[in-house]
Amino acid sequence: MRITILTLFPAMVRAPFEESMLKRARDKGLLEMEAVYIRDYAEGRHLVTDDYPFGGGAGLVMKPEPIYRALTDVLQRSEQKRPPEARPPRVILVDPQGELFSQDKAWELSREDELIFICGHYEGVDERVRSWVTDELSIGDYVLTGGELAAMVIADAVGRLVPGVLAEESPLKESFADGVLEGPQYTRPREFQGLEVPEILVSGDHAKVARWRRKEGLRRTLLRRPDLLARADLSAEDRKLLAEIREEEDERP
Ligand code: ADE
Repeated sequence: MRITILTLFPAMVRAPFEESMLKRARDKGLLEMEAVYIRDYAEGRHLVTDDYPFGGGAGLVMKPEPIYRALTDVLQRSEQKRPPEARPPRVILVDPQGELFSQDKAWELSREDELIFICGHYEGVDERVRSWVTDELSIGDYVLTGGELAAMVIADAVGRLVPGVLAEESPLKESFADGVLEGPQYTRPREFQGLEVPEILVSGDHAKVARWRRKEGLRRTLLRRPDLLARADLSAEDRKLLAEIREEEDERP
């Protein structure tokens, strides 16, 4: 997968790709990333990328021309590189007004060969930028100083789903994969500060361990995120476990 990020702060978006999992993915040739500095496409002596909003108001708005030139350049280079049968890249504007990003969206984007992110700053981008993108995504109902961190959150969540990036099959089992959170996890030591690892996890009975994990995952989801549970993909066994959990929770003092 190729990820290109159009930004006024290239150093900010390069860093996450130089550590940990995303760096390993790049080293293995599974992920390519390029940061494109929007200011390189600005004109005039001062290379201005923002301006006052028409109609007045506080703050500055990012001008359309530098973004347009940067995007056109990136799209042209992409077209020259990709095989004729390949799909054109998704162009994603990260913006608090976008569709809420989710694990489902991460899976959808992980099937693309190329993603281009446009990171807005200041009070936003000129409205015309929206007409050049395929997607507008927000990472949550709060306002960041710019789109860079949001683009990194999305790139991280998507990048780890690209086949081969994670060593094992874990993304299919983890929290949100089927709308149920993961249960508690433990590692050594078996006892720490008086808190013990549940006996069943050290019993060696794999079927019992699997049932316990699913049950505790369901319990967590019921107690912490009932909204997820309402939409979850539940089996008949899950429903039985949930009935047990509800009884247990009702009996709790
Ligand atoms: N830019 C500023 N805030 C944002 C958010 N919550 N999501 C995506 N982009 C943003």
